[in-house]
Amino acid sequence: MSNVAAPAEAPVRDHVFHRNLLKKYPVAVRAAGVYIFDSDGKAYLDASSGAVAANLGHGVQEIVDAMAAQASQVAFAHTLRFETPVMVETAGRIADLSPEGLETVYFASGGSEANEAAMKLARQFHLDSGRPGKHLVVGRWQSYHGNTLGALSAGGDVGRRTSFSPMLAPYPHVSAPENEPLESVCPHDGGPGEQFDYIGEFEQVIARVGAENISAFICEAIVGSQQGAVVPHPKYLGRVRELCDRHDIVLIIDEVMTGFGRTGKNFAVEHFGVTPDIITFGKGVTGGYAPLSGMIVHDRIVDVIRERSDGVFRHGYTYSGHPVCLAAGNAALTYYTDNDVLDNVVTQGRYLREQLDELQARQPRMGPVRGRGLLLGFDLLDVPGRRHITSEAFNEMAMQNGAIFYPGKGRIDGIRGQHLLIAPPLTIQRVDIDLMLDVLEQTLTDVDVEVSSLIINERNAL
Ligand SMILES: Cc1ncc(COP(=O)(O)O)c(C=O)c1O
Repeated sequence: MSNVAAPAEAPVRDHVFHRNLLKKYPVAVRAAGVYIFDSDGKAYLDASSGAVAANLGHGVQEIVDAMAAQASQVAFAHTLRFETPVMVETAGRIADLSPEGLETVYFASGGSEANEAAMKLARQFHLDSGRPGKHLVVGRWQSYHGNTLGALSAGGDVGRRTSFSPMLAPYPHVSAPENEPLESVCPHDGGPGEQFDYIGEFEQVIARVGAENISAFICEAIVGSQQGAVVPHPKYLGRVRELCDRHDIVLIIDEVMTGFGRTGKNFAVEHFGVTPDIITFGKGVTGGYAPLSGMIVHDRIVDVIRERSDGVFRHGYTYSGHPVCLAAGNAALTYYTDNDVLDNVVTQGRYLREQLDELQARQPRMGPVRGRGLLLGFDLLDVPGRRHITSEAFNEMAMQNGAIFYPGKGRIDGIRGQHLLIAPPLTIQRVDIDLMLDVLEQTLTDVDVEVSSLIINERNAL
């Protein structure tokens, strides 16, 4: 018998290129309503709807059935050769929900693809309208439009951009507004707090690079992951619209995270009374049951493509208009209407906001709560004498406690600032909101309990 110690058990490796190759993830084996269950039987309240996509909760049988039925009818038909009834019906439903004038829907699979398509469509629209110089897309810092190179170029997520910056298109960026009512749109709008002239900054960019070179401006109406539900001053988007009109710039509003009721309106842009030229959508359109995204395009652009481009947008994906994904979208949109999901967002969003405001008043680590509907967020603050915690680490602790939030960072300048987004399924009821709040409060307390015991241990070790 050898007295050599047996080697430690080798870590189990599978063949998946995981998001983090060094991390062990819980194994999700079942999901129902607002809960996901792992292989140990632990329940997690899905307070972030996954990546703010599972907007109708888990296990909605109508959507599952519609996908299965479509799969056995026509699972795939190339959109270069065919149209399908489910495509026409889903586009009609989306157009019905959209602001007046946005009547035509182009389909893709993910949010990044939708934004790529929107930026290319803007370019083709100008080209075919006799404005060949227009090619640049102006984006905003602290905004996210996707991880493909074009979307990343227009986005302003410093963390995601840095490694790839030599590969990115040289698109100009302007500042994203702070949460209302902290700052105003322009100095002459008045308003409390520090003032920064966001519109003036945009005007300076136009003057510097030349309106003749600018094709589009892209932004989220209410910023999701990058700022944690920051709502701009009520006049901001109207001013942006005016500038775009004056300089023939296509206004693209990215509603990939906010579309289909997340903020208490079908589209977040409705809070500001502005009609964009293109709305991009994704995530919530199927409630996460299948990858479907797209853009809703204003007639003024569609007319140009129809009349001057032989009707052809020179773009397309294999899975544009995938029938099974559209069946998921069609069934999800029916579910939204039949179950008055929008009303639930308003009611439960108001309740959640009140409860979070109360919690914030007694929790020094919570900054002021912001957002609309069921897209709420706050900064995770440092407290003097207590340790810094990242929102990612905070969320890991919350998962141990039984709820999943959506952590983010870099709100202040792309690097500094930790925030937490709270975005449960839009079907959530009060009893689950209360449970979610209990987990949040417990975790806020645990941070300092754990930290103080760590500090005590460190002192004892000295
Ligand atoms: C506002 C916004 N735009 C675009 C995207 C990219 O979508 P996808 O990851 O489906 O490509 C996201 C994803 O989080 C998003 O929040």
